[in-house]
Amino acid sequence: MEDLIKRVARMIGDAKKIVVFVGAGLSTESGIPDFRSPGGVWDKYDPEDFYFQNFISDRSKREKYWEMATEMYGAMKDAQPNAGHIAVAELERLGKLDCLITQNIDGLHFKAGNSENKVLELHGTAMHVSCLDCRKRYERAPIQDRIAGGEKAPECDSCGGLLKPATISFGQTMPERETAEAFRRSADCDVFIVIGSSLVVYPAAQMPVVAKQSGAKLVIINRDETACDNRADVIIKGQAGTIMAAILKEVKGGKE
Ligand code: APR
Repeated sequence: MEDLIKRVARMIGDAKKIVVFVGAGLSTESGIPDFRSPGGVWDKYDPEDFYFQNFISDRSKREKYWEMATEMYGAMKDAQPNAGHIAVAELERLGKLDCLITQNIDGLHFKAGNSENKVLELHGTAMHVSCLDCRKRYERAPIQDRIAGGEKAPECDSCGGLLKPATISFGQTMPERETAEAFRRSADCDVFIVIGSSLVVYPAAQMPVVAKQSGAKLVIINRDETACDNRADVIIKGQAGTIMAAILKEVKGGKE
């Protein structure tokens, strides 16, 4: 493990453009379950219940969605960034982060110190709510207060449209700007570091492949096997927080 840490630290030191690509595995050490590990979100809920089509077409399914989303938000709203998030923010502070592509919706990158203009939230964010009709944006907390007050499926106070957390559900259109920019950065970097993702959900999972095909070195830091292990230049198996903290320590010449 030691040599792999040193090897990745050297790649970071020599790199001109580093893209970091993260999944739910980066946030499990902050107490937020991932999706496909045992006991993860899809062990607890049926992904079908999160389909966008169901949300917009069926009031009872929309109410069920809000129940589940409220429970998941409960685990996120007070969560704190862990050593993995802090190491990724440190990469930006060191001027070594071209772009952070995240599939996560928990907003922890910003709590850790990454800047808005460095982060591409491919699957949106659970920290805001938007109206599906007029696109009006709301902070999440006041909408949760309305739900606690008895509203089961809140509607927009401007146009009466359906309100939904600003996350991207299965079947919902991906954010165009973020997706296009993420593919552009993936094709343009010289080191692409995946942290805590099973790499099974598209189009996000195509990005490490695009990076590799464009000549970048591919590093995968994950507890379990991923769908891209066969393409990786370096694979470090284990806890993201521990590994990323060790890599950043090495990048900074062994200083904390
Ligand atoms: N350290 C390192 N790896 C971890 C840790 C950890 N502490 N905890 C979990 N992992 C790994 C797991 O081994 C798993 O391979 O993180 C990966 C998480 O994979 P998923 O649960 O599939 O999460 P993700 O890849 O982010 O899912 C992508 O699927 O359901 C959709 O929209 C959802 O954004 C999500 C997308």
